[in-house]
Parts: sequence; C-alpha cells; structure tokens
Amino acid sequence: MSEKDQSFSLIHTPHGQTRPNEESDTKFSFTNFSKEFDDHIDKSIRGYSTLRQDVLSISRYFVEDDTTVLDLGCSQGSLLRKMYENNDHVTNTEYLGVEINDSFQQHWKDEDRLRYIVDDITTMEFPKDLSLVTSLFTFQFIPERKRVPLMEKIYDNLIEGGGFVFSEKLLSIGGKVQNMMEFMYYDYKREHFTEKEILDKEIELRHLAKLTNEDLLIKQLLGVGFRQIQTFWRNFNFVGMVALKLPSNNWDKK
Ligand SMILES: C[S@@+](CC[C@H](N)C(=O)[O-])C[C@H]1O[C@@H](n2cnc3c(N)ncnc32)[C@H](O)[C@@H]1O
Repeated sequence: MSEKDQSFSLIHTPHGQTRPNEESDTKFSFTNFSKEFDDHIDKSIRGYSTLRQDVLSISRYFVEDDTTVLDLGCSQGSLLRKMYENNDHVTNTEYLGVEINDSFQQHWKDEDRLRYIVDDITTMEFPKDLSLVTSLFTFQFIPERKRVPLMEKIYDNLIEGGGFVFSEKLLSIGGKVQNMMEFMYYDYKREHFTEKEILDKEIELRHLAKLTNEDLLIKQLLGVGFRQIQTFWRNFNFVGMVALKLPSNNWDKK
C-alpha cells in the first residue's frame, strides 16, 4: 500500500504490526482453526472478549448449587472453564461443555465438576437441572428446522429462574443497513485477515451458517416459553442476549 493510500485507509494497523498477507492464509474450517480458535474468533468478532467477560459476569446471577451449567458448541472450552473457576459461591455445581467437532478435544482438561463431551446438541439428552445454558455463536450453525426444537429442549431442562445466554450474528431489518454493517465489519476484519481469507471464509460459511433476524429469533424464544429477552451486548450485527425461564405461576393454584 502506498503512503498516500495508507493515509486514506480505514484499515487501522496497530503500531509495530504489519498488514496480514496471503502467504500465511489458512482456509477456514473449525478443524483447521481448532488449535487457536479462541484467538481466531477474538480477531473475527470485534469486542468478542468483552462479550465473554459479560457472559462470565452474568453467569454469577444464575449459577446455583445442585444444578448444571451447559455450554453448547464449547470449542476450546475456555469460557466454561472460566465460569467454573470464577463462580466460587457454589460448591457442587456441574459444568458440561458439548462440542460436535472432536478436534477441540486437545484443549480440554476435565476436573472434578468440569466435563467436556463430543456430541450433537440437537440429538443428545440434556441434564434436567440446568441453571444456565450458554451458546456463543453456535445456533447459526444449527440447521434452521432444528433450532426451535433445540430452544424447546433448553427451556424444558432449565430450572425455574434459569437463564439462556447466547450470542448470534443477525441480519439487519433492511438491506441498506445490512450493507453498511457488512462492509464496516469487513473494514474491521481487514485489520487481521487478508481480503482473500475474508472472501474464502464467506464462501465456506455459505452452507454452514444460516443467519436469522432478531424478530424471528425473539418470536421463537417466546414461543417455547422464554420471557424477558434482553440484549446485553452488541457490535455491528453480532448480539448477545439473555432469556429467562420465569418461575411457574403456582401462587394461585389453591
Ligand atoms: C462459531 S463456533 C463458537 C464456539 C464457541 N462457542 C466460542 O464462542 O468460541 C460454533 C461452534 O459450534 C459447534 N457446533 C456446531 N454445530 C454443533 C452441534 N450440532 N452440536 C455441538 N456443537 C456444534 C462448532 O463445531 C463450533 O465449535
């Protein structure tokens, strides 16, 4: 890039760092990036580390003794481990991470109450005492026809007062804003990836990631029983939300 180009460039290159170049390109797949997936996702989604920090903070409001915390699509398992290590107000809570891709196993280290398994979240049975379910950017990789049954399974296995904390990349309401969001996002991604890597990943994601929109997502969550669905984090079209399973209406039974 010439000096003149650089002065007009929207691409911020932190001091002392060089722009990414195509020689070091790696084709995107969860398996190819399983060794350093945390680092990859941190560079791919602006503010991802603050999202994780927020999920960790929120977890404290839900994690209870005699319950299980479930992380869906846990990849390296580091978020679940942080929740396990930080929630020191509990003594017997179980933590379970589920991931369909076994190449992430190299990162997992089970502890007394912390366990990781390779399984498919759409077909496996969930523990019935869930106080908190987390799912960061996993639903978008689940076939659309399987999402509502999965939401229902989460809801049914949460205890009353339990929470579902998730993040997703959403589509904007209108084409004009979608176009802005997408291209501002590419501007950001060019700080860490070459143009070829960005476009190649888009091609890989075509058959993997099927994005939804906020309206449909909220209707689906309400439809299976969740209430007080609230966005707590947002960056471009990446959102973090919390949805509650309220205590049942059992005060007027008698
Ligand atoms: C975008 S990654 C996010 C990973 C992790 N939650 C994070 O924030 O770093 C989505 C993950 O979901 C996993 N996944 C996709 N479909 C799944 C399924 N049916 N069952 C379990 N895991 C699944 C993928 O293998 C991948 O690791």
